[in-house]
Amino acid sequence: MENRRNFVKKLSVATGALSLVPVLTPVKARSLSEAGKLINDLSPAEAARNEEYWHTIQQAYTVSPNIINLNNGGVSPQPLIVQDAVDRYNRMSNEAPSYFMWRTLDAGRESLRMKLADLAGCDPEELAINRNATEALGTVILGLNLKKGDEVVLTKQDYPNMIQAWKQREMREGIKLNWVNLELPIENDEIIVQKFKEAFTPRTKVVMITHMINWTGQILPVKKISKIARERGIAVLVDGAHTFAHLDYKIPDLDCDYYGTSLHKWLSAPFGSGMLYVKKDKIKDLWPLLPNQNPLIADIRKFEVLGTRSFPIEQAIGHAVNFQNAIGNKRKEERLRYLKNYWAEKVVHLPRVKLNTSLKPEFSCAIANFSIEGMEPSEMDTILFNKYKIHTSAIVWENIKGVRVTPHVYTPLKDLDRLVDAITFMAKK
Ligand SMILES: Cc1ncc(COP(=O)(O)O)c(C=O)c1O
Repeated sequence: MENRRNFVKKLSVATGALSLVPVLTPVKARSLSEAGKLINDLSPAEAARNEEYWHTIQQAYTVSPNIINLNNGGVSPQPLIVQDAVDRYNRMSNEAPSYFMWRTLDAGRESLRMKLADLAGCDPEELAINRNATEALGTVILGLNLKKGDEVVLTKQDYPNMIQAWKQREMREGIKLNWVNLELPIENDEIIVQKFKEAFTPRTKVVMITHMINWTGQILPVKKISKIARERGIAVLVDGAHTFAHLDYKIPDLDCDYYGTSLHKWLSAPFGSGMLYVKKDKIKDLWPLLPNQNPLIADIRKFEVLGTRSFPIEQAIGHAVNFQNAIGNKRKEERLRYLKNYWAEKVVHLPRVKLNTSLKPEFSCAIANFSIEGMEPSEMDTILFNKYKIHTSAIVWENIKGVRVTPHVYTPLKDLDRLVDAITFMAKK
């Protein structure tokens, strides 16, 4: 029975890879579907270590051979098929912009909605396509019906744009913000859940939960927090900027009311693409940021009144979804975690080096943050780039100080070896 289950599991992972059209020209490398044959019989964890397969994925990108980009947490590059689609649609649009953008490309939006909904595991009628997580989450933060004295729970480790939006409501309308302060890393869900629970009061109307804290990569137990929020009638907003197309899950698994993400991070979609999820019964009462004729209609499209924007960027998202499906969500998650562990396990025991991220799989994936006693993050960031040509992100935010390292599916192990050398050098300084 167990063998049969494993077989079916492998088969369903495999079909994603086999159904993909080649994304690479034969002169460059083998096609993705060809490469998929290398791993179709492997479990996702085994596939994560198949360098021959990941070499093909690396070739699908056009990244600089001279700069090692380990700041994919900020924004990620696109595989060539996505870049080509943007170029193609852009050239087409330039032949007669209003005709090709509004009559041809625009017609693809409903199909794209279905494609994204399939990946997100929700109803297409719950998904609006927009430009980034800031826009998606800002729509919810500024569009919820709240009055003076209503309370919102959030953490000091949330992303600044979201914090700023909530603070504006605090300044303007007198809502009250109740802050949770997380001492990261935390390797116990119950500690996190308890902190949120303690911040809830009878006046709490909304809780915002960042699924993965961008500064360190800590994964928060969204579903467990949602459960308690639900029992108290508190609406749940999830910042999924760092987990969509990174961790293998579906939005409804989180049991949230609202969710926003960028697609130009882990999905490798074009720069300036994002997505808003609003649970069906919550659409009507959420005010759009940029209103349509009937702002209180129960139609998710009311959040897409963005004026003229880049239709080439929007339509090329579909190619990024194809690429994601070809790899498979679980395989990608396992590979990303493997890459993080690859370098982190080599430096964690070095004297003066401290990891600000848990290495337990349930608490982190691709992102990790390290510090070295006696060194400022900016100093390490400078050495990493000037001496090793490794681009990272120096973090100083609330109680977090360190360098954030974020590989992506195109990162070869050799690049991480250089990172390990660099950290070893700095730790001995
Ligand atoms: C946790 C989190 N939320 C939201 C955002 C905003 O993303 P964007 O700049 O694409 O709107 C980021 C960006 O890094 C983030 O890390």
